[in-house]
Order: sequence, then structure tokens, then C-alpha cells
Amino acid sequence: MTVLSPRPDLWTLDPGVLHLNHGSYGAVPRRTQEVMAALRTEMDANPMVWFRTVADRLTASRLALAEFLQTDPDGFALVPNASAGVTVALQTLPIPAGSRIVLTDHVYGAVRYAAERFAKDRGAEVVKIPIPLEADDETVVRLIEPQLDGASVLIVDQITSGTAKVFPIEALVGAAHAQDVPVVVDGAHAPALIDAPAAGGADFWTGNFHKWPAAPRATAGLVVAERWRAATMPLIVSWSEYDERLPERFDMQGTYDYVPWIAAPESLRVLAELDWSVRRPQLTALVEEGASLLAKALGTGVAEVVHPSATMRLVELPSWVDLSGGDTLKMRISRELKAEITFTGYEERNFIRLSAHAYNALADYEKLSEGLPRVLG
Ligand SMILES: Cc1ncc(COP(=O)(O)O)c(C=O)c1O
Repeated sequence: MTVLSPRPDLWTLDPGVLHLNHGSYGAVPRRTQEVMAALRTEMDANPMVWFRTVADRLTASRLALAEFLQTDPDGFALVPNASAGVTVALQTLPIPAGSRIVLTDHVYGAVRYAAERFAKDRGAEVVKIPIPLEADDETVVRLIEPQLDGASVLIVDQITSGTAKVFPIEALVGAAHAQDVPVVVDGAHAPALIDAPAAGGADFWTGNFHKWPAAPRATAGLVVAERWRAATMPLIVSWSEYDERLPERFDMQGTYDYVPWIAAPESLRVLAELDWSVRRPQLTALVEEGASLLAKALGTGVAEVVHPSATMRLVELPSWVDLSGGDTLKMRISRELKAEITFTGYEERNFIRLSAHAYNALADYEKLSEGLPRVLG
């Protein structure tokens, strides 16, 4: 396999910092930032002209993003983030009183809050299914399937946030649809990590371009199955309220900053030039090696996740490390080690979730492995 060299030069990330958590908020390449700056200059030179041209520019951008996902552009709408995508889906689906909103114990916290809000509002109940890290695809389906009786919706992650585990979307959609249960897929991490991520047949799929495709923040997509397209409305009521076309209804959301959406395709071009399909497995190998180094340095192990995500790995934290201070430890690591990492957990276990993107090199993980045991003390 061709080995591609790291390209930190394409980013504006502080070189004095170890950036090992792309998975949380991404990072925007220099070129995309330049495109955004030029667009903002244009907007502020003549806002009237800018807002007259926004609709056409959004169409071009939306088509490019839909093509990147390999999805039907007529069912693809722009939303600011995966949280908004899930909220739109839950707002659209019928959730009758007494029904169950089914999700798993890997659900992203804010998505669970959305489920709880709609459950409370509609008199439904949230049912959380435990899925062990060690569960293979077949087991995941076997654990979820019996809980779908009386469900109004199944919400499932495509790649879990805290545990970086890939769920078998197509099989879960098949199992849910066999019981007439609509499926909402939270694919926040999926774009650029899974090819054609919205192809699993879900009723609603949402995913972030501002994570792995390195698009400007507040760029996400919502893919809606044909049967729900007419009923799916944006969260903000604006001038496109009566537009019969789903994507266009979501395009114009009042006076809003459309620059990130318009600039996003530049990041897709950067990924293409990075030879992403070759680079992604290399980044996965890199983060695996980095995670092993760190686990060795901490005297722990790399969590054995069945069907782990590309480009992210979990390193077990020693059991004596105290995370009860919220962000305090992360801030100490940031200050003393100049390293940005994130902690996640599952059941009683805590992890460091490491990421690798095209700006990372093995030396980053080596430096973290050298310094972290000292800081954890
Ligand atoms: C699985 C999952 N769902 C939803 C979200 C929320 O994404 P956003 O903050 O872009 O709405 C995240 C963010 O990390 C996530 O990992």
C-alpha cells in the first residue's frame, strides 16, 4: 500500500499542540478557510447582491455534498448539525402516546435528550437497550429486534461517539421495517469514514460534514426517505415554507450565515487531493499503533470493540484516574502537555478516544505516551 505522508501544512492547527481529537469538532483546512474569508468579503462588500445569489450557490454546494454521500439529491437537505437532523426527524415521525422510542446505551447524550423531549411531549416512553462493546453485528440485531414491538421509532448510531463502534445499519433497518418501525440513523461521524453512509434504507439519516470531511462547522446533511419528504419541515419557519421540494425548503433559513455551507465543497476537494480512500485505512493503522503505544505507557489496553470505526480507537484509562472533575483533567493535559484529547466512557469503564486525521503522525502519539503517565501521576 502506498504510504502517504502527513500533511499538517494543509491546516492552520497550532503546531505546538498535539491535536488528537479530530472526532469532536473536526478541523478546517487552510484552503477552505480562505474560501470562507473570500466569501465573507464578498458578502460584506454588498449584502444585497450576496443574498440574491445565495440560493444558486447553495444548490451547487448541496449537490456536491449529496454526490459525496452518493445519495439522491432530491432527498438531501442541509442542516447545521446532526443534533438538528435528529430533531427534525423526531418532529416529523408520528410518535403516538404510549409508544416507545427505542435507542441504545451508546446513544449520543444530546440525541437522548431529543428523544426524551419528544417522548415527554407525546406521552411516549424512551427504551434504552444495552449493547456490549464485544457484540458482533448479529448480536446487535438480536438484542434490538425483540424491543421493537410497539415502538414508534428506532434511533441508532452508525458510528457511536463514546465507543467508536460501527452498528449494522442495513440489518437493523431490515429488522425494524419488518415490524413497521421507522428508523432514524445518527450518522454524525459517518461521512468520510463510511462510503455511501446514507444507503442503508433508513427513514432518516443525518451526518456531519464538519467532522471527518473537515468541512466548516455547522455543515451537516439530512437524508430523508421518499415517504417522509413531503412532511419533513425545517426547524426554522422561513420563506421556503411552501416550497414543495424538500432540499429547497431547508436551504433558506432566514438571514443566516450561509458561508460554511457554500464553502464546504472545498474541503471535499482537499480530501480528494489527500487521496482519502487510500489515506483512511492508513490513518486507521496509525491510530491503532498510537493507541497501542499509549495503552502500553499507561499499563492498560486498547478496548476490544467488535467492528470498530475507522480512524478512532479507545485506550482504557487506569481505574484510579478520577474524571469526576468534569473538564478539569482535560484542561490540565491541555495546559501541561499541550495535548488535546477526549475522555469517553461505557458502563464503568473510562477511555481516551484517540483520533487520526491527515495532519497526524506517529510522533504525536509517541509524545502523548511519553507525557500522559506523568500528568495522570
Ligand atoms: C454520534 C453523535 N451524534 C450526534 C452528535 C452531535 O453532533 P453536532 O454537535 O454536530 O450536532 C455527535 C457529536 O459528536 C455524535 O458523535
